[in-house]
Amino acid sequence: MITVKTSSQIELMRKANLIVRDTLQLLMDNTRPGISTWQLNKLAHDYIVSQNAIPSFLNYNGYPASICVSVDCEVVHGIPSKHKILEEGQIVSYDVGAIYQGWNGDAARTVGVGIISDECQKLIDVTKECFFQAIKAIEGGNTRLGDIGHAVQSYAESYGYGVVRELVGHGIGRHMHEEPDVPNFGVKGHGLRLTPGMTVAIEPMINMGTEKVDFMSDGWTVKTRDRKPSAHYENTVALTENGVEILSL
Ligand code: MF3
Ligand code: CO
Repeated sequence: MITVKTSSQIELMRKANLIVRDTLQLLMDNTRPGISTWQLNKLAHDYIVSQNAIPSFLNYNGYPASICVSVDCEVVHGIPSKHKILEEGQIVSYDVGAIYQGWNGDAARTVGVGIISDECQKLIDVTKECFFQAIKAIEGGNTRLGDIGHAVQSYAESYGYGVVRELVGHGIGRHMHEEPDVPNFGVKGHGLRLTPGMTVAIEPMINMGTEKVDFMSDGWTVKTRDRKPSAHYENTVALTENGVEILSL
């Protein structure tokens, strides 16, 4: 079932998403060689709690941390660890979720650790732009889910990148994951029509090489099959009478 949100519910989602946005900024500001992904998890956890919010990932289906930190070939759902130390030249994706007064925010960013290759920077920039191509498709009006998927897929593939199929964006609200699925691939003019009051997380996951991924035996971490780098960029957005509002920016 797709739940339509009132403007006062969207206001609470805006608050949740601003906490997520600020947590991501804190993580980016603390990204440096030598920091462990567990230290970053702790920074994020403490910040979310300090804002009277709940880290939504912690214990979600048994997930053992408050954020996901995915390095280089890890696509998503990397588990923070004391033994995982960031190194110069890596790229790192942070995925953060928070619940504020019962409403969810969810967003992700990818950044470099110190100086990174032009190739990796390009992947990060194109992945972010994939999200904004999706927004542009929504702003065109009368949007269907296939228009979003097509916008992301065609932009990423024009750079020769792989678009992950096994993981998709999602509706969001009282629950982190609601209907509908929001794939990063699709056919223009197909799929569910977007209507005011819907809130969705749009989250391109883009691989430098193959679109194929492997699911690790820790039960969470997803890696690219060719072990080339992957980037992730996500925001929660609300469809309104006036178009689209990005709640986590
Ligand atoms: N934030 C992820 C998403 O965008 C989900 C994280 S899975 C969790 O859907 F287990 F870590 F919560
Ligand atoms: Co999400």
